[in-house]
Amino acid sequence: MKGLVFTELLSMAEDAIGEDAMDDILDTLDLDSDGAYSAVGNYPCRELMQIVGAVSEHTGLGTDVLQHKFGEWMFARFVEGYPQFFEGKTTALEMLDAIENEVHVEVRKLYPDAELPTFKTEFVTETDLKMSYHSERPLVAFCHGLIEACVAHFAQPGRVSVVTQPGSTTAEFEITLDRAA
Ligand code: HEM
Repeated sequence: MKGLVFTELLSMAEDAIGEDAMDDILDTLDLDSDGAYSAVGNYPCRELMQIVGAVSEHTGLGTDVLQHKFGEWMFARFVEGYPQFFEGKTTALEMLDAIENEVHVEVRKLYPDAELPTFKTEFVTETDLKMSYHSERPLVAFCHGLIEACVAHFAQPGRVSVVTQPGSTTAEFEITLDRAA
């Protein structure tokens, strides 16, 4: 998993609980990287899970809640750092439909070692998109946070539903906008 994901997770956690508390947490974890991440490096997803687990214990927030918040945080970073992927996209559904065949394709060119999920999308109606998510990593709640942040970004009222199993690496999302753009 790209170092960028780790550096952003640490920024979010430091923002929430403070740098000292975060340093203490990292010290308690037996991380191969010692908690020193470079945005361009690559690190095992296991370490991300260890950090999320430890922040969960510290804050009392569930790991799914933290992953979800992290998805929202990461989406804002993507909007800021990669505006080119958002150009020409007028609705959240159009954006989400483009992740697999456009956005993550470009991500793979930029970072050939990126570990990306697979999405299959299907428009049920103009305002209703089904998005099935498959990964090798248990990041369903992170993905949920990204999708909800995407809907909020385009400022269109709508709902995101998810069907998954606890601890699963796959999920069926359905994004329904209240009305057409
Ligand atoms: C709402 C839109 C998006 C969704 C739903 C989405 C979904 C995901 C998910 C769920 C992951 C975690 C990996 C996994 O699940 O196996 C991921 C990783 C990633 N995505 Fe996206 N993504 C979105 C937009 C973007 C954008 C705009 C970028 C722009 C650069 C991007 C770049 C990345 C990168 C760099 C990773 C990390 C890969 C790694 O750690 O090796 N994604 N994405």
